[in-house]
Amino acid sequence: MTNDTNPQTGGRFGAEVLDRLDQLAQFSESDEGLTRVYLSAEEKGAGELLIGWMTEAGMAADFDAVGNVVGRYEGNAPGLPALLTGSHYDTVRNAGQYDGMLGVVSAISCIKALNEAGERLPFAIEVIGFADEEGVRFQSTLLGSRGVAGTLDAEILDKQDADGTTMAEAMTAFGLDPARIGDAAHKAEDVLAYIELHIEQGPVLLAEDLPVGVVTSIAGATRFAVTVTGLAGHAGTVPMGGRHDAAAAAAEMLLAIEDRCSGIDALVGTVGQLTVPEGATNVIPGAAIFSIDIRAGDDTVREAAVADVEAALAAIAERRNVTVELTRTHEAKSAICAPWLMDQIRDAIGAADIEPRYLMSGAGHDAMAFVDLTDIAMLFVRCGNGGISHHPDETMTAADADLSTAILLDIFRRFRPKADGA
Ligand code: GLV
Ligand code: MN
Ligand code: MN
Repeated sequence: MTNDTNPQTGGRFGAEVLDRLDQLAQFSESDEGLTRVYLSAEEKGAGELLIGWMTEAGMAADFDAVGNVVGRYEGNAPGLPALLTGSHYDTVRNAGQYDGMLGVVSAISCIKALNEAGERLPFAIEVIGFADEEGVRFQSTLLGSRGVAGTLDAEILDKQDADGTTMAEAMTAFGLDPARIGDAAHKAEDVLAYIELHIEQGPVLLAEDLPVGVVTSIAGATRFAVTVTGLAGHAGTVPMGGRHDAAAAAAEMLLAIEDRCSGIDALVGTVGQLTVPEGATNVIPGAAIFSIDIRAGDDTVREAAVADVEAALAAIAERRNVTVELTRTHEAKSAICAPWLMDQIRDAIGAADIEPRYLMSGAGHDAMAFVDLTDIAMLFVRCGNGGISHHPDETMTAADADLSTAILLDIFRRFRPKADGA
C-alpha cells in the first residue's frame, strides 16, 4: 500500500478509508492471513465496528435479520425511497483486505462527508455491509444480498458448516432469530437502485493506467459440491487393474473440467477445493470430494459447459468403476448493469477528468442478487500488484481509494431516479 494522495481531491478520503480497512482486517479467525466467515465472532466484531462508523457518520445503523449491517441516511424528508449501496464484509480464506470492504467503507466516508456538510439529498441512501457474499462457511454465496433482495429460501437454514453446525444454530449464536430471515427483505417500491463500488480484482485498469471503470455486466456462475465414491483398499495388495480409486477418478475429472472450459472467450472453470477424506499413504482412496466453479459472461455458454462437464464426469465415473454425485450449491445468471445508471457513473468519472472505461466483471458481486429487486450498476477501482485478489497480496493505493470515494460521492450527489421510459 502506498500513502500517496490524489491531487484532485487533496487526499480527503484516502487515509480514512485505508486506515479503516486496516482496522477491519484485525477481525480475522487467524493471525496469519485474513479469514472472516459468515456468522463468526470475528464477523460480529467487524460488524459492530461498521455500525459505530455508520452511526458517527449520521446514519441509523444496526444488524438486519441475516447479519448484514445496514446504515440509513435519510433524505430531505424521512422515509423516502432509498438508493442502496455497499458490498460484503465477509472474506474468503487468506483474503486480501479490500475485496468487499472497500465498497462499504468508502460509502460510509461519503455519507460522513454529506452529513458534515449538512447535506440531505432528495432520496435516502442505505449503506449495506453484506454478511455473506463469499459463501465460504455454508456454501451459501450471495446470502446477505439475497436476504435484502427477498430471494432467500428458508431451507438454507439447514445447511451445515464443516463442524456440523447448522446455519440456524449459527444465527442464534450470533444473536439473530432464524425464523425472521424474511425481515431483511426490502420492497421494490422503497428502492431506487443499487450501486456498488468494488476493486476490480483483475489487471485491466492497472494495465491501462486508469483508476476506475464502469462495469457493464457480471459473469454468471454455477457451483457444485462433488463426491466421488470408490472402494478403499490396501495400497500394497490390490492390483492396479482391480481398483476403484476415487482420487484418481477425481484427478481425471479435474482435467476434463479444465479442458472443457479452456479456449473459449469469457468462460472459466475452477476446482478450488479437493480432498481425500480420511486418506492415508497406504490406503487406496475410497472417496474424494471437490468443488467446481464455472463462469461465463454469456449464460448459454456457461450452461453448455455445465452440461458437458456433468456428462464427462458421469462417463469418467462409469469407466473407472466409481460413483459420482454432484450437488449444485450456487447458480447465478449473468447480471446486466442498467444503462441509465452506467450513464450517471460515466458522467461522474468524466467530471473527474478520467476517460470512462467500460469492462465486464468475471468475479461475482452482491450486485448480482439485486437484479431481482432493482436496477444495478458498479464502479470498479484499480488493484495494485498485477490485479491479484482473493490473496493477501491484494492491494491498492491511497490515491485510488481517495479518488474513487470522491467519485462515489459525486455519483450520490448527481443521482437521479430512473425517468419513466428510460
Ligand atoms: C466472489 O468473490 C467470487 O467468487 O467471484
Ligand atoms: Mn471475493
Ligand atoms: Mn467481493
